[in-house]
Amino acid sequence: MAEALHEHLTGFASDLTAALKALSESSFAPHEVKTLRSFSAGEASYYLGVGDGYLRKAHHEGRIPDVEMGPGNRRKYTAEQIDQIRHVLAETAKNPNQFRPGRRDLATEDMQVWAFVNFKGGSGKTSTAIHTAHALSLRGYKVLVADCDPQASLTTFFGYQPEIDFFDSGSLYDAIRYRDQETGEGPKPITDIIRKTYFPNLDLVPGGIQVAEFEHETPSALSRGELPVFFDKIRDCLKPVRDEYDIVILDCPPQLGYVTLSAICAARNILMTIIPERVDMASAAQFLNMASSLTEVLHENAGVGLFDNFRFLLSRYDTSVATQVDLASFLKDLFGDAVMKAPFLKSSAVSEAGISQQTVLEVDLTEVKNRKTYERAIHSVHEIVEEMETMIQANWGRSA
Ligand SMILES: Nc1ncnc2c1ncn2[C@@H]1O[C@H](COP(=O)(O)OP(=O)(O)OP(=O)(O)O)[C@@H](O)[C@H]1O
Ligand SMILES: [Mg+2]
Repeated sequence: MAEALHEHLTGFASDLTAALKALSESSFAPHEVKTLRSFSAGEASYYLGVGDGYLRKAHHEGRIPDVEMGPGNRRKYTAEQIDQIRHVLAETAKNPNQFRPGRRDLATEDMQVWAFVNFKGGSGKTSTAIHTAHALSLRGYKVLVADCDPQASLTTFFGYQPEIDFFDSGSLYDAIRYRDQETGEGPKPITDIIRKTYFPNLDLVPGGIQVAEFEHETPSALSRGELPVFFDKIRDCLKPVRDEYDIVILDCPPQLGYVTLSAICAARNILMTIIPERVDMASAAQFLNMASSLTEVLHENAGVGLFDNFRFLLSRYDTSVATQVDLASFLKDLFGDAVMKAPFLKSSAVSEAGISQQTVLEVDLTEVKNRKTYERAIHSVHEIVEEMETMIQANWGRSA
């Protein structure tokens, strides 16, 4: 005899939630605060944008605070120390702007909002968003990363369990929600939602299952004429913090719904991740068609949908697969400069680090067996970030 589907599904859901909780408690103590490893002198120099000998000399001359020595008498830098050194250098160096990569004039240099999109699931949006957010914050930009996906995978990278921690509140949803018709409860200021993270210069707007409510509630809010309308929601909610951050990264869900459209309308920079595989390219064409007709309607009716940069990013790109190499060059021939020069290379380091909710930048390289693999993946992330920085600096009217 047929059973009621909902009861069946509830059983699976509660079993899975309990099992996941037990699993994460065994590998990661509940609510254990994630911490960040320390960085080598080479890494610190890279993030500060100076040559190899620079830091050694600056320490020797007592121009910057000293740091702890690790094994082999090598200096070890925490991310906070890298940041502190950047501030000291910005006060004392001959060319202080070299150490002030972020906004210097809040009136003329806008906060740069980036949306990472594609409705193809698993195309690398979250991995690219979290890796670039980590790297940009280490490079000295003040970054806010917002998880716009009800699946909230990005939020897990910060040590949260969104299905427990942000099940009923505390996610992006609270900042973009519509007014409740019965209780009158409306959106909360984004400042109540933003959480500091264990990366200096990096804050988080968590995601959570409630974000899916926004999709269901938008049609009736539209028919009631409630303002702001969905496409203004993310842009509006960010207004109170527009002097706080240099860069905002919006990790979108794998669908072209109201949240994604709101993110696209909030962003002046759009990065579409695309795996160079035949099926992914076909789906990308569909996404572009749909996005084009939807944003046309929004543009004509509300004047929204302007942008500074739109880029395709080749993601999970495996250069050892001939068909991927062919498709990558096909895309570059077709779209020219709209394709980022740097791809996000497929790497077992990215997936391996991802299992413990880490980016390749966080993993302690002294503890991995395949260090070279990690270094290649880190290099790939750095190349993407350098290209983004060039666009950001250009948007601020600076030549990088
Ligand atoms: N460069 C890479 N190398 C190896 N694995 C990768 C890489 N980028 C992403 N992955 C893996 O691919 C899977 C999907 O990636 P990710 O979650 O970033 O995609 P997504 O587009 O955000 O997915 P969704 O649409 O579900 O949000 C993850 O398991 C991730 O670890
Ligand atoms: Mg994702």
